[in-house]
Amino acid sequence: MVQILDDPFFASMESSIGPVDEAEMLPPSCYTDPAFFEFEKDAIFAKEWLCVGRQEWVEKPGDYFTSMHMGEPIVVVKGRDGIIRSMSSVCQHRAMLVAEGHGNTRSFLCPYHHWAYSLDGQLIGAPAMERACGFDKSKIKLPNFKVEIWLGFIFVNFDLDAAPLAPRLTKVTEVLENYDLANADTSMELEELTFPWNWKVMFENNNDGYHANRLHAGPLHDIAPSELCVFPQDLPEDTAGYYRYNGTIHADASFNPTLKALLPVFPKLTDEDRNRLLFANVPPSLSLIIRADLVAFIILHANSHDTITAKRGWLAAPGAKAQPLFRERLKVNLDASAEIAAQDVHVDGLIPVGLRSRYAARGRYSWQEQAQREFNAWLVKRYKVEWAVRKAPASAA
Ligand code: FES
Ligand SMILES: [Fe+2]
Repeated sequence: MVQILDDPFFASMESSIGPVDEAEMLPPSCYTDPAFFEFEKDAIFAKEWLCVGRQEWVEKPGDYFTSMHMGEPIVVVKGRDGIIRSMSSVCQHRAMLVAEGHGNTRSFLCPYHHWAYSLDGQLIGAPAMERACGFDKSKIKLPNFKVEIWLGFIFVNFDLDAAPLAPRLTKVTEVLENYDLANADTSMELEELTFPWNWKVMFENNNDGYHANRLHAGPLHDIAPSELCVFPQDLPEDTAGYYRYNGTIHADASFNPTLKALLPVFPKLTDEDRNRLLFANVPPSLSLIIRADLVAFIILHANSHDTITAKRGWLAAPGAKAQPLFRERLKVNLDASAEIAAQDVHVDGLIPVGLRSRYAARGRYSWQEQAQREFNAWLVKRYKVEWAVRKAPASAA
């Protein structure tokens, strides 16, 4: 169903942002309507900090990797000056992409007609253009985006006036401090998959502890029962991200057949840390699933109203990779996580079918879904701002 964007529609979202014991789900069309995704591009994706990867992926000058958010091709590169930059990879000639995948380069050479760009995006070569009237390559540059690094994660922002991210993530940064993620071991080996569902369906699943001992009931996941979820009450009003805990039935619990950490435990963890899982989310693109020995990160890239590309990777304690049998132990963890993820994928695949149904309801939340209410509040705040902007010309006339 195509949703008309009007005042009653946005007013109806108020019932999704009250206290969790009163709140209900957002209207289903927020998940299914292509026009609403176009609205979200302006309300969210063109303004928010979007995770693209890890700083370790661009260790040396000339290292680059590509990404895409809201269908915009992005390249991230470390310059000769050591600065990490991000820019559009759309050639300013006839729109071929100047970078694919990842690698190391001295410049970006568009394969189509060989226009060449320096690592800061400046056009430095354009063959056989001397007869083009008024053509001045010094005036042509790949559009640059803002870049910020938070705990080793690289974020970009299409909005050059965007306020910095870290000052609005102070609480989340504080609870992650003992994991020292900026110095964690990681790799560029990622699982990258594209799925046929709206980005919020997957974000909400990552954000949802209510299903933990229901959908995932069984020995692998029973270490973290849903009733042990804990939601913070101390998040600042303007927080750009949030977190929740889930207590575990024993210390150093981990999702693998031994149910215990197989990799070195992050060395600065307290006993309290070691007896719970931590879930941190920076919408709209980063989810962290944190246990005592391993952090799974999922970077979500919304492509359209009904497709999303998810990159999944891991972070381990500094020095963990050098430990004997690290690869083997990691594999045991990743195989077990894949079993759990397959259950999520099954659900995420059928929810859009339900959301498109004329019988889809705006269901109420359990107290164990507090994090969904936080996400709704984050979303609706931004929807309201954009809706006010869109209405402004009409009311001013
Ligand atoms: S499209 Fe890039 S050089 Fe022509
Ligand atoms: Fe799950």
